[in-house]
Amino acid sequence: MNIQLSQLSLIHKLILTLFLIIMGVSYLFAALNLQLKVSLADGEKGLSVRDIEYTYRGDPGVTLLEAMIRTSMKQYLPSPDAALDIEQWIADGKTRGDYEQIRWIFEQKCVRCHKPSGEANFRPLTDYEEVAAAATPQKRSITSLASFSHYHAFGMGLFSIVMALIFSFSSFSIRIRMIVCCLPFVALLMDVGSWWLTRLISPIFAYTVLPSGGLMGLAFILLIVGPLFDMWRRRDAVNS
Ligand code: HEC
Repeated sequence: MNIQLSQLSLIHKLILTLFLIIMGVSYLFAALNLQLKVSLADGEKGLSVRDIEYTYRGDPGVTLLEAMIRTSMKQYLPSPDAALDIEQWIADGKTRGDYEQIRWIFEQKCVRCHKPSGEANFRPLTDYEEVAAAATPQKRSITSLASFSHYHAFGMGLFSIVMALIFSFSSFSIRIRMIVCCLPFVALLMDVGSWWLTRLISPIFAYTVLPSGGLMGLAFILLIVGPLFDMWRRRDAVNS
């Protein structure tokens, strides 16, 4: 096709520009989410390989329940003391008797999602047995990783193809266009692939999650900045 971004009419340039800006903003939110969620997995600030290992594989020394009430489920706790009470219960051997003292936390704050008809039905927390099961050291559940992967891969795949198509109509050389347009897909495969390798094969693959995330960031920047630059700055193409 012979379309050139710089030759588009003003309305099409505007639509594409706004779309690319929204993509940039969404990406910043994704980065913020990563910062807030994954980077706290090991209990310390800052994103590290250990955070990634714990997020995708699980922390061998900490139970799933403890890991979650320190991170993404922390917001649902009635108070910071509730987390200490739960941790104390686990440290004291998770007895049925002591469970009575912390039962209210689960019933009031967690069960609305963690029940068979709730949003987090894959991990019910409705009684002693279920809570005790979540309080054993274990790996990240395959179910939750699978649901996270499929949202991520579908979403990013769709955004990537739209952005790659826009980039493909820029006036950069064919070689640059081919490389940049393939980048997000390669990064996506590497990213999701390394989560699963971290989970299933070895924590060593936590090291490949970081570069693939970085590659995705680079791809997004090029796919956004390139077409914007080409659309609004390049006057040399064809005047029309
Ligand atoms: C608004 C709904 C909601 C509430 C309330 C909620 N959770 Fe969750 N929980 C989820 C969702 C969704 C997931 C899966 C996504 C994730 O891992 O962040 C999850 C995941 C978990 C997991 C990991 C399950 C697994 O098998 O991977 C644990 C443990 C957990 N929550 C504990 C709690 C506790 C304890 C509370 C109460 C203090 C709580 N949750 C409150 C929605 C909720």
